[in-house]
Amino acid sequence: MKIKTLTLKNFRNYSDEKIEFGGGVNILTGENAQGKTNAAEAVFFLCTGYSPRANRDKLVVKFGSSSGEIAGVADSAYGEVSTRIVFSTSDNKRMFVNGIEVLRISELLGNIHSVFFNPAELKLVQESPEDRRRFMNISLSQMSKSYFRALQNYNKILAQRNNLLKDRDVSLIRETLPVWDAGLTKHAATIIKARNAFLAELAPIAEEKHALLSGGRERLTMKTESGYYGTEEEIAYALSEDLKTGFERDLRLGFTGIGPHRDDIKFMLNGEDARVFGSQGQQRTIALSLKLAEAETFKTRFGEYPVLILDDVLSELDKSRQQKLVAAVKDIQTIFTATAVPRAIFKGVPYRHITIKSGAIKSVKDY
Ligand SMILES: Nc1ncnc2c1ncn2[C@@H]1O[C@H](COP(=O)(O)OP(=O)(O)OP(=O)(O)O)[C@@H](O)[C@H]1O
Ligand SMILES: [Mg+2]
Repeated sequence: MKIKTLTLKNFRNYSDEKIEFGGGVNILTGENAQGKTNAAEAVFFLCTGYSPRANRDKLVVKFGSSSGEIAGVADSAYGEVSTRIVFSTSDNKRMFVNGIEVLRISELLGNIHSVFFNPAELKLVQESPEDRRRFMNISLSQMSKSYFRALQNYNKILAQRNNLLKDRDVSLIRETLPVWDAGLTKHAATIIKARNAFLAELAPIAEEKHALLSGGRERLTMKTESGYYGTEEEIAYALSEDLKTGFERDLRLGFTGIGPHRDDIKFMLNGEDARVFGSQGQQRTIALSLKLAEAETFKTRFGEYPVLILDDVLSELDKSRQQKLVAAVKDIQTIFTATAVPRAIFKGVPYRHITIKSGAIKSVKDY
């Protein structure tokens, strides 16, 4: 999958710009605060309907404007596809796929696949399990509409179940809970089964990528323990049994103590917990290895790589890791952002150099 053009209108610090990407490595350079990350964000937004940096859509509208939009055209194995998102400060965003408005994110998702990395992804290793679940959710939602739907339904039912658990009327809870639990375990099973398969595929590749980036010096092992395996029916059954036995606990907690909303991934480097003992560079390498592995899982499932967005990744890595990274992405359309092109690192690799200044494209040159 390759994004050909990105149009930005009153988006962040852009007024009206069109970026034409090359099919291989692209490097966006410019001084700080010129709009490199904004462009990278726009590409990911067009692919997922989700901003990796803003938690409110309205924030992306250019200061002083009441509306803005981003649009992209991509080539995929199934032909050309275009997506467009229109933002407004007073209304919800509107999304279009091939010119037709879609009302749900699920209809935007999956049209253009993309994997995003920026320095904040370090939280994948460092911070709460929620960040690791978000990683799985964003990947799997792009890969499968049924996953995305199950996730939405699960979250809805979970919220209702948790609300009910806070009720004082225990006999009412006892009566009503089984009704919620039937739906809950069904959607949970879809989520858990998909995550199990995804992680089983991802872990060995991430381990391999990490070994590659670290020059074989570090051995990454990933541990995931959802505790539920087998078919969806088997998972749903086991979970519903556990919900029954956990009833008193859930009642005491006032929320649901088990299920996919509690899943986590543990990263070990040379046998030690990377979250506790890993250096910044090591943790960054783990996050990056995960993203590279994610790109491979897209390739396995869909026969083509996603668009890989690597925002500010080079400045964080030593020369050897930078070189290995560039070698690892040479077959993938990649959008790097950096303050300058480290020429030595890209020696022998064809790339398009796009310079950006104050939300405008200054030059485009192929090397
Ligand atoms: N809604 C908005 N309207 C106008 N400008 C915005 C908006 N949101 C962010 N900006 C501006 O965009 C600039 C940041 O752009 P961006 O994060 O893309 O920089 P960058 O080129 O990636 O810089 P760095 O090298 O520091 O990462 C900031 O100066 C910020 O004020
Ligand atoms: Mg930036």
